[in-house]
Amino acid sequence: FGKNRRNAAGYDVTSPDELSPLKAEMEEEVAETFRACPLIGGAEMRGHESKILNPANHAEVVGIVQEADADQAVDALNRALKAKPHWDDKGADARADILNTAADLFEKQGPRLMALTMKEAGKTLNDAVAELREAVDFLRYYANRARADFAAPMPLPGPTGEENRISLHGRGVFLCISPWNFPLAIFTGQVAAALAAGNAVLAKPAEQTPLIAYEAVKILLQAGVPGEILHLLPGDGPTIGNALLSDPRLGGVAFTGSTETARLINRKLAERDGPIVPLIAETGGQNAMIVDSSALPEQVTRDVLISSFQSAGQRCSALRILFVQDDIADKLIEMIKGAMEELHVNDPQYLSSDIGPVIDADARDILVKHAERMDKEAKLLKAVAAPKNRPEGTYFEPRMYEIESLSQLQREVFGPILHVVRFKASQLDKVIEDINATGYGLTFAIHSRIEEKVAYICKNLHVGNAYVNRNQIGAIVGVQPFGGEGLSGTGPKAGGPRYLHRFAAERTISIDT
Ligand code: SER
Repeated sequence: FGKNRRNAAGYDVTSPDELSPLKAEMEEEVAETFRACPLIGGAEMRGHESKILNPANHAEVVGIVQEADADQAVDALNRALKAKPHWDDKGADARADILNTAADLFEKQGPRLMALTMKEAGKTLNDAVAELREAVDFLRYYANRARADFAAPMPLPGPTGEENRISLHGRGVFLCISPWNFPLAIFTGQVAAALAAGNAVLAKPAEQTPLIAYEAVKILLQAGVPGEILHLLPGDGPTIGNALLSDPRLGGVAFTGSTETARLINRKLAERDGPIVPLIAETGGQNAMIVDSSALPEQVTRDVLISSFQSAGQRCSALRILFVQDDIADKLIEMIKGAMEELHVNDPQYLSSDIGPVIDADARDILVKHAERMDKEAKLLKAVAAPKNRPEGTYFEPRMYEIESLSQLQREVFGPILHVVRFKASQLDKVIEDINATGYGLTFAIHSRIEEKVAYICKNLHVGNAYVNRNQIGAIVGVQPFGGEGLSGTGPKAGGPRYLHRFAAERTISIDT
């Protein structure tokens, strides 16, 4: 996509020359208390107030959020409906210019956005750098895609002498519901895509992370997105969902989160009167890695640790089940145990922390319960020890269990718990069958030096993103379009060439000459 198509540079935090000034700037930024409130028609609204605590340190109030209520949500919808034709008529080039301006502003305000992401979502610095880059990449990528596909109608030569052309248009008002695990990147990605395609947007961030969403919307408005086109609705999911999802005037929904919630949204959209509108859902995974006896154990160890435990395992792409061929299982397990021993789970303000907290007490309780079940039903291979003198927060130390088969895991467990299953070379087809039988199909990784086997497995597994001889997280916008099949999502892939089309209506015009 021409000269503009480049991924964001980010920061090299291994370079002291870059790290020191960055840290100083970030510290200055988080000296203040942040805030968020409904932004409707560009105006700040008031609502029920609650505190956002740092999950890494509950003594720290990161900010105060005013939550939107049902009336405000409907008011935002009314205003967005009125304004939407102007945004679509503005044309893709003008919309792309605004999104590119926003990308520049995101980069300029990078230290502030990263500092807040670390405090509000408990992200490590490395994760915060990646998150900022991804947000910037989404803005630029969708701007470029809109220019390529939306700016001018595509002529379609026919046999009749008629003039035929097809063009893409916004569907109207999109509701974008985003998760806490990528509170900047996925929030920005959904909103940018809907805007690029010519829609007005009602943005509903996760309850846990409204502060960073507020900062992102402020920047988008500053870049030139009209306040009547982009409205922010922080607050309770059911309150806002119930107010908007049954409204026949809604043009579509983009959702990233659990499969259960996606089903609920789908049901609500189906039950209402009015047009049938798209739901673009990116949901969970039961992600596996297969390691055969030709794999390089050092490389596998590194990739297992990244895939399972980076971001405290709170990525929908994260590795949950490691299938290891029995010939190398003992050796590999020992190596992974040794590497886990080195992991530091602590407040991300200490740069020595490899892993921060999980998002909140509910998330930790689910992990604790699962670990209790595994303690009874599986073999504990390794539990990382907690450090002494850590701040009070929602931490959960990585654990690794050996299980007999995948059927012991009914659903996705969203955190740093890895399950290992041994298999014999003769059981490979059964392993593939078991992975497919989960019904999920998000990420998968294979470590093997046998090309035919890699090709065979990749062909027979139903997953959205397959990775060979590498880790399975951190898909790069425009390079590794991301999203799953089956219970893992509807597609199209975020950061891919066809994502915007689902946010759009197609029109064909045929003119007799
Ligand atoms: N896109 C992220 C990744 O690839 C997950 O949402 O890790």
